[in-house]
Amino acid sequence: MRERVLNILKKKDGSSYVSGEEMARALSVSRTSIWKAVNSLQVAGYRIESSPRLGYRLVESPDLLYPEELAGSMQTQTVAPVKEYIVHYHSLASTNETLKKMAEEGAPEGTVVLAEEQTKGRGRLGRSWSSPPGRGIWMSVLFRPSIEPAGSSLFTLFIAVAVVKSIKELLPESKAGIKWPNDILSSSRKLCGILTELKAEADLLHFVVAGIGVNVNTRKDEFPPELQGTATSLYQESGGKEFSRAVLTAKILEEIDRFYLKFLSEGTKPIVEAWKKHDLTLGKEITVQTPRESFHGRAVDIDKNGGLLVEGGKGDRRIFWAGEVTLRENRTR
Ligand code: BTN
Repeated sequence: MRERVLNILKKKDGSSYVSGEEMARALSVSRTSIWKAVNSLQVAGYRIESSPRLGYRLVESPDLLYPEELAGSMQTQTVAPVKEYIVHYHSLASTNETLKKMAEEGAPEGTVVLAEEQTKGRGRLGRSWSSPPGRGIWMSVLFRPSIEPAGSSLFTLFIAVAVVKSIKELLPESKAGIKWPNDILSSSRKLCGILTELKAEADLLHFVVAGIGVNVNTRKDEFPPELQGTATSLYQESGGKEFSRAVLTAKILEEIDRFYLKFLSEGTKPIVEAWKKHDLTLGKEITVQTPRESFHGRAVDIDKNGGLLVEGGKGDRRIFWAGEVTLRENRTR
């Protein structure tokens, strides 16, 4: 009911009132039901003006990532095709942790978990991820592709491309690009991080959970002091512009949906090509740190399965599937 009332109010676009009686008639319910739905929307943060003579008017929607806000503006096939696939929390330890549990319990492919705040946001290599309330996008998406576990490295790449493309649509002058495999940097500072986790057996992939953290409206002093020099947000990159997290989230989910379908139907080539368009790594002197070694060289290419080809000082070539890349003069870790 709440969603249907919201839709009617939104159609009026804040410019005119719609009476309780008119809505009750349109939805074949009592005026009390309309009044209750309006109340519940107000409690959820929607600013709805009511006038005894004229009815109701939507003045402002909250910048919260409610399923009805997102689903209404999205056209997707696999990722959250209907709003019931989107699970929203005000506060959560970690969206990846929650979605992994849901996946174990049988949640369908395309399920999305979002939180306004994470209290134990996780980054790669056991690091923590700062996720203050209402300032960023902290979400995870579930995939159940019928591919071999090795193919999952492409997920990491296409999710990054989807996020960068969406950011550039909102802020065309953005300098955002991707440091292999999936750190999104702008002016050498981290704008977005992606944590892809999977459950697999030797040759069977059960599921992939892609966790995405985008710093959207975070002010500099809202980052922990140790990150203030290495992290950034769209707000900072744009010189103090606020962005709608709901609009960006919907765009990202649409792009992820598009790339996923492309990946399933056309394979890895279009993903690697799209990734290269936003790349910040190739041609640079880099260090790749893996649990076993630290390798210095020049990043030469990305192979068709997403591996990074690096040429060492003696012309020896190595391919990496995972690792932490440091670009020369790179201010992020
Ligand atoms: C990185 O270290 O760069 C990866 C950061 C990933 C953060 C996101 S926020 C949503 C999801 N839930 C988590 O706990 N982590 C990921």
